[in-house]
Amino acid sequence: MANVIVIGAQWGDEGKGKVTDLLSRSADVVVRYQGGVNAGHTVVVKDRTFKLHLIPSGILYPETECIIGSGTVIDPQVLIQELDQLKALGISTDNLFISDTAHVTMPYHRLIDKASEERRGNHKIGTTGRGIGPTYADKSERIGIRILDLMDPQAIKQQLHWTVNYKNAILEKLYNLPPLDPEEVISQYLEFAERLRPHVVDCSLKIYDAIQQRRNILFEGAQGTLLDLDHGTYPYVTSSNPVAGGACVGAGVGPTMIDRVIGVAKAYTTRVGEGPFPTELGDKLGELLCDRGAEFGTTTGRRRRCGWFDAVIGRYAVRINGIDCLAITKLDVLDELDEIKVCVAYEIGEKRCQDFPSSARLFSQCRPIYKTLPGWQQSTADCRSLEDLPKQALDYLKFLAELMEVPIALVSIGASRDQTIIVEDPIHGPKRALLDANGTPVASYKAS
Ligand code: GDP
Ligand code: IMO
Ligand code: MG
Repeated sequence: MANVIVIGAQWGDEGKGKVTDLLSRSADVVVRYQGGVNAGHTVVVKDRTFKLHLIPSGILYPETECIIGSGTVIDPQVLIQELDQLKALGISTDNLFISDTAHVTMPYHRLIDKASEERRGNHKIGTTGRGIGPTYADKSERIGIRILDLMDPQAIKQQLHWTVNYKNAILEKLYNLPPLDPEEVISQYLEFAERLRPHVVDCSLKIYDAIQQRRNILFEGAQGTLLDLDHGTYPYVTSSNPVAGGACVGAGVGPTMIDRVIGVAKAYTTRVGEGPFPTELGDKLGELLCDRGAEFGTTTGRRRRCGWFDAVIGRYAVRINGIDCLAITKLDVLDELDEIKVCVAYEIGEKRCQDFPSSARLFSQCRPIYKTLPGWQQSTADCRSLEDLPKQALDYLKFLAELMEVPIALVSIGASRDQTIIVEDPIHGPKRALLDANGTPVASYKAS
């Protein structure tokens, strides 16, 4: 039995969808614990590509139960589209469950997200425009609509009358936008409610029962560590907690139930939206990475900013999430390069800095200090074991593992399932070693 969290170790889009799909083979339950339809997780199976926004990436396995947890925010319209698309492709969604305490994204959330971004001008975050921030803001302000509210047609009518009128004042007075018709919103959401009703459950209870039955639970993070509301590059972050700790809160499970944390990182770095990015390549090389990696957002189609691997944020992600092992994706994107750089530390003014600074202002002043490694200039797409990899590619991976002090369990060299090298069993293989008082690695403190 193992309960495993998969998180993004960078700024999102690390390939969490591919890794979750692969690991779902040995999972009984897959849970999304935060985020909403800002996420876009891609799973490629042979010649078919699935783009998932809210539905966990375990859905392609008919026996696997998939849960959209309490900590997520649900846009019912997009979720229903996703359900319909999967059904049209012959994928069963009978095993999809939705938490009754998840919050609901409403039309005014989307409108306010876009209008407030416009109002911010040069200070915009570069959000996905999916209403994520305003939905979480209402949750904190305690005026949010939850899935269980939608399930009570009489009560929701009253609740929505009040809320839509309240939001209309903001839309009209603050943003100069036309008001929404409460009746229209109510009738649309009552329809959504009936479509979703068969899927609604008490999520933490369902997960608890599964744990009691010693079933394997996989928690699928959305976004990434550096987009975390508390630990990322604030204010250029999302409004939830993608870090591993967020899985316990968002799914409603105790931390003692978690056996392992797997960090997913690309062999280079990308970021969508605004905010500092020390290793960004604003030149032809950045364009080459973007083209070779097909770095266009799954959700918004925006071009992703590309740069070298940043081991400072990598180490930070290991610390914040307690990462036990890494899955390194998109190694193949570096195949053509004659040399590859890795950021090992930053320079701020005259000072060398090994740790991620908490302030975005300081972070934007960080200049990367690089170590340059030779490239391999040959295709890795058909490699299926470490022995198949060119020596320089293997040295590159070893260098990353040494810098971040965690074992690499999985290497991805293409989008499809088979383009994967399993170095160690990611779920039961070696964990990050703890050090004793003399700094000597000791055996793992938890049995897996
Ligand atoms: P996620 O949000 O972390 O699930 O990542 P996305 O799905 O948004 O973005 C990752 C993209 O890279 C998707 O289009 C994947 O199909 C693709 N991908 C994943 N792993 C690899 C890989 O090893 N090599 C290449 N070339 N593409 C990959
Ligand atoms: P997955 O799960 C990459 C970014 C947006 C923006 C910031 C805030 O596919 O890795 P939001 O709409 O959340 O308020 O936008 O966060 N962002 C992502 N970037 N991958 C994602 O998800 C993202 N979800 C949000 O671009 O910079
Ligand atoms: Mg994505």
